[in-house]
Amino acid sequence: MNDFIRPQPGILDIALYEGGKASVAGMNNVLKLSSNENPFGPSDRAKDAFARSVHQLHRYPSTDHLNLRTAIAEVHGLDAGRVICGVGSDEIIHFLCQAYAGPKDEVVFTEHGFLMYRISALAAGAVPVEVAERERTTDVDAILKACNRRTKLVFIANPNNPTGTMISAAEVERLASKLPPQAILVLDGAYAEFVEGFDAGLAIIEARDNVIMTRTFSKIYGLGGLRIGWGYGPKHIIDVLNRIRGPFNLSNTQLETAEAAVRDQDYVTRCRADNARMRHWLAEALAEHGIPSDTSMANFILARFSSTEEAEACDLFLQSQGLIVRRVAGYNLPHCLRITIGDEASCRRVAHAIGQFKAQA
Ligand SMILES: Cc1ncc(COP(=O)(O)O)c(C=O)c1O
Repeated sequence: MNDFIRPQPGILDIALYEGGKASVAGMNNVLKLSSNENPFGPSDRAKDAFARSVHQLHRYPSTDHLNLRTAIAEVHGLDAGRVICGVGSDEIIHFLCQAYAGPKDEVVFTEHGFLMYRISALAAGAVPVEVAERERTTDVDAILKACNRRTKLVFIANPNNPTGTMISAAEVERLASKLPPQAILVLDGAYAEFVEGFDAGLAIIEARDNVIMTRTFSKIYGLGGLRIGWGYGPKHIIDVLNRIRGPFNLSNTQLETAEAAVRDQDYVTRCRADNARMRHWLAEALAEHGIPSDTSMANFILARFSSTEEAEACDLFLQSQGLIVRRVAGYNLPHCLRITIGDEASCRRVAHAIGQFKAQA
């Protein structure tokens, strides 16, 4: 450590983000169910666009992302001028903290909320404020109680990761309407597409000037490896975020692949239906083995074990079978394992292995 060269306050408090495990030592053929990825990958139209983009590698990408923003706006019925695109929704979260929260400002999120809220708040020098949930569900009253003159941002994921639970539009509206005037509500919709008929809070955003949503191509669109996300909100916020966005933050390949992906809503519909079917099946199968889970609205299930020891032992057993799920101790849920909904064969494999684990315990 050098006594003179120091990072900004808060940065050394950041615990490095650990992604879902992708390998097990000594095993070649593992099944990864640890990062909420789409087991079917992206749509063929997205893959074709990706391949075509090779012809543009020598060209700088557009700085205003007009084609992608237009596609997103047309598909979702939005104003393209209020869409911003980023390197994953992570980058939009980061922009929000950088632009709106500084030293002594507070950034509020829930106890089992996505880890990037804390990391981005600390990176901006702000104070992360963690609020208790009720039965692994966002508690609007607890959030409102935690807000004060210093609150600048409130993040909720709806559905939430890693719990899979959701709150109603009425609850989101109540939260937005009661926040202190200087606070922005961020609706993280990384899993919104998995919920049939859900507008991800759009009606609330259109009616207010203090709410923004973040969305991603990493989950239902099957493009986690390419890193594309977007946000939609009031013009005054989008204008601010664009000022700190790098002009070439997204490559031609990212922009063109995402555009093709968002225009292929038939694929999204098929993936949503398949996910819902297998999620229901897996939840029932786990319940039959004595492992409860909350009703999940996303593409994973949070399996609750009787103790941390049992959850860890089950994880080790699954690994020995070549199955990788996600430990969530970092989300204050050490007695749980988060299992991504895979294709039918994967769900059957994981349910069978958990049955074996329970039988030998
Ligand atoms: C709730 C939530 N928000 C945001 C993200 C970030 O997604 P990305 O940066 O890949 O768009 C994730 C990824 O796991 C997530 O679970």
